[in-house]
Amino acid sequence: MINLAGIQFKDPIIISSGIVTLSKIKEVCKNYLPSAITTKTLTLKPLNPHDPPTLVKFHDKCYLNAIGLGNPGIDELKKINEMECKLIVSVGGSSIDEIIEVIKKVDRGEIIELNLSSPNRKGYGESLASYVYEVVKNVKGVTNKPVFVKLGPWDNIIEIAGRAISAGADGLSLINTVKGMVIDVETFKKVMHYGTGGISGKCIHPLAVRIIHDVYKEYNVDIIGMGGVFSGIDAIELMSVGAKLIGLGTVIIDEGYSSIIRIRKEMEEYLKEKGLKYSDIIGVAVKK
Ligand SMILES: Cc1cc2nc3c(=O)[nH]c(=O)nc-3n(C[C@H](O)[C@H](O)[C@H](O)COP(=O)(O)O)c2cc1C
Repeated sequence: MINLAGIQFKDPIIISSGIVTLSKIKEVCKNYLPSAITTKTLTLKPLNPHDPPTLVKFHDKCYLNAIGLGNPGIDELKKINEMECKLIVSVGGSSIDEIIEVIKKVDRGEIIELNLSSPNRKGYGESLASYVYEVVKNVKGVTNKPVFVKLGPWDNIIEIAGRAISAGADGLSLINTVKGMVIDVETFKKVMHYGTGGISGKCIHPLAVRIIHDVYKEYNVDIIGMGGVFSGIDAIELMSVGAKLIGLGTVIIDEGYSSIIRIRKEMEEYLKEKGLKYSDIIGVAVKK
């Protein structure tokens, strides 16, 4: 069991935001049993995704996405009822007022994840990162659920993370995608219709390791870690720098849901071989 913000998780493997649609959450839970599933970031009203292409593979295990927070809106959350997996509700908006309205409608799920980091829609996500203190303070005033703030791999991450924590965040989710661009050199056009996209997958894994390491070292806070986890060893690495739960994202897009079972097994084999428990690993590399 892993205790995160006072909630018990059966193991560290969860699914990150943006990977499973609301309509599939229950089925994925039943078939693959991740300990938690995070919803797509939900806004007050439905948002259309950007025009295609919205997801491009640019290198082995590395993707660029610009879905643009396309989502069915917070009212659709009611379609999810009882399931065995815990539910993390990812929430976004284009203003503090919108985020508060969305939070007031979150009537299920164990944790709220505030998306202040998506790079793929102007006015949303990382556009609000500089208001992190005000957003978290206000959100904590209207919900009793633990609030995790999802941040990106920015140069000023220590400062932004500190502001989230001092405003009352119960933990942090690290990391979101990194803004990138791919050019087609036959046409010299940008490959993504939106122009830019968020880089995810193996290419950002060492960035996730470094950011989680630095934030955990500074604040010793509860962290949901994600970024390019493709194997049990990648997951163990993120735990060793302070992550308590591990989000799978791009690996599921690349390989399918069976990667959940494979990665969980690889982690368990590692622990068995070394005679360790998850609690022996969390943050161990930060102290070295
Ligand atoms: C197709 C796609 C959609 C995503 N949508 C969201 C989202 O709605 N909200 C969010 O906070 N993160 C979103 N993310 C970011 C992931 O949750 C995760 O933080 C990031 O991809 C890094 O993990 P990974 O390398 O394992 O994919 C999305 C990622 C991908 C690839």
